[in-house]
Order: sequence, then C-alpha cells, then structure tokens
Amino acid sequence: MAQMKTILRALNGETQPVPPVWMMRQAGRYLPEYRATRARAGDFLTLCYTPDLAAEVTLQPIRRYGFDAAILFADILLIPDALGAEVGFVKGEGPKLSTVTTDADFARLGDAEGVHATLSPVYETLRILRGALPAETALIGFAGAPWTVATYMIAGHGTPDQGPAHRLKDENRALFDALMARLTEATIEYLSAQIEAGAEVVKLFDSWAGSLEGPDFAAYSLGPIRAITHALQQRHPGVPVIAFPRGTSRANYVTFAQETGVRAVAIDEHADADWAAQALQPLTCVQGNLAPGHMVTGGAPLVEEVRRIRRALSGGPHIFNLGHGITPDADPENVALMIETLRETA
Ligand code: CP3
Repeated sequence: MAQMKTILRALNGETQPVPPVWMMRQAGRYLPEYRATRARAGDFLTLCYTPDLAAEVTLQPIRRYGFDAAILFADILLIPDALGAEVGFVKGEGPKLSTVTTDADFARLGDAEGVHATLSPVYETLRILRGALPAETALIGFAGAPWTVATYMIAGHGTPDQGPAHRLKDENRALFDALMARLTEATIEYLSAQIEAGAEVVKLFDSWAGSLEGPDFAAYSLGPIRAITHALQQRHPGVPVIAFPRGTSRANYVTFAQETGVRAVAIDEHADADWAAQALQPLTCVQGNLAPGHMVTGGAPLVEEVRRIRRALSGGPHIFNLGHGITPDADPENVALMIETLRETA
C-alpha cells in the first residue's frame, strides 16, 4: 500500500522526524511565474474562475519547491461573490464588495445551495489538480470562516479593526445572525463540493478571529467553525479540517482544539511554539508558525528560527508553515532556504 501522505499522517496525530511543510499564499505575487500567469488572466477573479490557470498557479510552488501540500488557488471572497455581493479587486486597494447593512441588502443575497453555479469552476480546478499533482502531495481546499467573510461583506472592504461588523452585531443582532447563518450554510455547501472534487483536507481561515472576545468569540468564531466541521464530518467522514483562528488568545486556541472537532489548529507568528508544544500538541496537530517577515529578510535569523520552531514542536504532530501569508516582497530564495533547513537532519 502506498505510504499515507505526510500531511495526512500529521493530521492523524503522528509525530514525524521531519514535519511536512506548505506555506500560506504559496502561490502568489512573490513568484515571477505567478505574476506572469496573473498578467495573462487579467484580473484576479478571472484567474480564480479559470480552472486551467488556477490549477497552473497552484502547481507553480509545488514544482519549484516540492511542498508537501498544494492549496487550491482561490479566495475567501468567492463565497460572497457567489451569494451576489459583486466582489471586485481594485489594484493597490484590495477587495471591494457591495455592503450588507440592512434587511433589504440581506434579502438580495442568494441562498446557500445557489453558490455552486458560480463556484463550479473552482471544483473543476480541484479535479484538474487531483490528476496533476505528484502522488505524495496532498491537496488542501479552503474557505474563509463566516466571521472573517462577514467582516468584508458588512464593510464592503477590508478593515483594520472590523469596526463595521462589530457595529452591526451590536446594533442589529438579528440581521447579523442571519448573515452568519447564511455564510455557515454556504460554507458547508462549498467545502463539501470541494471534497467531492478532490480536496483531501480543508482549512477554515478566521483571519479576524482576534477581534472577537468572550461570548462573541464562542458564538461567532468557535461556533460556526464547530458547526461546519461537524456537518462535514457527517457528509465526509475522515476528511480533516484545519482551523486558523488568527490572533486569538492562548485560552481560545486551546478551546478550539478541545471543542471544534478540527484535526489541526494553525497558530500565528505571535503564538509561542514552546507554549503550543505544551498546551496544544497533546490535544491536536499544530500548524505554524514562522513569522512571514523572515521570507523577506532571510539569512541566519531565518535558519535559526526554522530550527527553533522545528525543535520546539518535534515532540508531537506538526505541520510546518508560516504564521500568516507570505508577502509579495518576499525573496523566493528564502523559501528554498526555509525548506532546506527544515529538511536537514539534526
Ligand atoms: O494560500 C494560497 O496560496 C491559496 C490562495 C489564497 C489566496 N487568498 C489568494 C490571493 C488564500 C488561501 C487566500 C485567503 C484569503 N483571502 C484570506 C485569508 C488568509 C489571510 O491572508 O488572512 C483573506 C483575508 C483574503 C481576502 C483577500 N484576497 C485580500 C485581503 C486580498 C489582498 C488584496 C491585495 O491586493 O493584496 C486578496 C487577494 C489575493 N488572494 C491575492 C492572492 C494571491 C493577491 C491578488 C493578486 O494577485 O493581485
């Protein structure tokens, strides 16, 4: 029987001598071959919705570096787009969407089952990838967690403190809850279809979980992620879910591991690896947590950090990754140095 893929082994709780590695935003603007394909596609959403090109950019970092997993090339804002939020990416300004702040705005959104019509090219990308990836490379699908996606839908763009989403939550709880419920259902639909198309693992990005506290964290980060994970387990038993509650507290990371049913918790670069080894690894696989800035600066500090994180998390299941996405100003040589350092025996 073929060896199980290294990422799947880590997600099954196995401690491995060299942890498997992939990188958030591994297909992206720091790679010249990405920029070339992106230029051919024209705009970003066209790239996401053109299966041949989306598959091509997904494969580029695999060819260049031999990562242990490929992550589907898409975006967390495709769900709002499929619900009718008119998403656009403006160069230099980031994403722009129509806002959801009134009952009338909400009434214009499509229902959860309707998302497949827009998202079917993404499923085709996954089918292409399943046929094109090396046998040892795992295929990761993903979606944004409902809270993070809602912050963009409510504001109509990215926000430093998620102020508009917090305001809607506090001023019109019924509408906010209805939006969260719609996003939760749509995400279950979307990830289920990704798994049917070939995703072997799925990841939920809750990039703005850090601004939710106390009961709000339980209700709007942990709760929806638990609901999605449980629904996926019913439909697709055994397919692991990774959650990334970025910026949350130590106590919340632990609660995530205990209560959501996810098989790995991804920690950002501010979480301490020694703490994670002691508090999280006995409960779940840990993914992370190299600071993305090292991919810009490189050198001895990068080498030292890779060794330190590997050593700290060597006693339990670990998937090596950055604490957040690689930035466009990163040097591709530093990515090679990271992998080479990680895979050295020592
Ligand atoms: O990780 C991967 O390689 C898979 C693809 C992926 C992208 N975005 C591609 C992308 C994934 C997993 C995402 C997730 C995503 N998208 C998140 C959550 C993770 C995180 O970083 O916190 C968020 C918040 C988004 C929303 C989004 N998409 C923003 C804020 C932006 C930035 C706008 C900009 O111009 O920097 C994007 C665009 C985006 N998504 C790019 C890529 C490669 C750059 C677009 C380009 O080529 O111009």
